[in-house]
Amino acid sequence: MAEMQLSSRHLLGIKYLNHPDLELIFETADSFKEVINRPIKKVPSLRDVTIANLFFENSTRTRISFELAEKRLSADVVNFSSSASSVKKGETLLDTVNNILSMKVDMVVMRHPAPGAPAFLAEHIDAHIINAGDGTHEHPTQALLDAFSIREHFPDFKKLKIVIVGDILHSRVALSNIFCLKKLGAQVMVCGPPTLIPKHIESLGVLKSYDIREALEWADVANILRIQLERQEIKYFPSLREYQQYFGVNRALLDSLKSEVMIMHPGPINRGVELDSDVADSDQSIILEQVENGVAVRMAVLYLLAAPRSTTKV
Ligand code: CP
Repeated sequence: MAEMQLSSRHLLGIKYLNHPDLELIFETADSFKEVINRPIKKVPSLRDVTIANLFFENSTRTRISFELAEKRLSADVVNFSSSASSVKKGETLLDTVNNILSMKVDMVVMRHPAPGAPAFLAEHIDAHIINAGDGTHEHPTQALLDAFSIREHFPDFKKLKIVIVGDILHSRVALSNIFCLKKLGAQVMVCGPPTLIPKHIESLGVLKSYDIREALEWADVANILRIQLERQEIKYFPSLREYQQYFGVNRALLDSLKSEVMIMHPGPINRGVELDSDVADSDQSIILEQVENGVAVRMAVLYLLAAPRSTTKV
């Protein structure tokens, strides 16, 4: 592979990446996917690089996936969780991070409930920052692994129709997916109750539907999102039962469509609400492929950001 680098030294959002960045990440992830399927899964690429995973909000998949990616690249890893830290004693975000950085950390992977927290850090410290989800704003590595997983089944995004279903209003996954899929040339639709779709969503170049059947008939791929009750301060729909009745994806609905739709979900799944188990666990779903690909995609991002910018090579 020729010498290549990303256009930014941080990954704060898909908004700030260009099309060649996306292609470079996918091609690098292809190489790392081959590496992690070898008997010896570890490469020395990030030996002597120290990475801090700072999680100020709960996570299962993203946190484990980043840690595994870092260890597969031979980085030194330090993990921080706000629930067991001096944040509880009133320490500011900048003080917390500066204290960690004074221990010679090169990269920071951060999840935070406040939109813009990773961008704030990037303005104040020298380390490379990777946004692992900031409030309702962006979750760039989730969108990258989603697009990478779609690309394995449908290589030509320009011929592809993808519907994102559910709580679009509170979803950082939705926003990052919209930016990513539009940059790749796909057609994107959002579908959900009117109360959970932002008013001017069409300004992002997406279609919208309030009818799940119409949306699934249109789409090749459906990315089903979780209802984020923890971010909802008011009631956006009468009950989970009613949501499930009108927007839940189940076997009967899928079997009644004219053609098969590939099912995705970023996790965690509310089984029996937005998605039934007999769909989530079926061959029509690529949910566990998404999780598997997350490690290779995150290895690619870490590698491309950490490598000396004049000599990036796989
Ligand atoms: N998809 C995702 O971000 O999952 P976690 O919240 O478990 O990291």
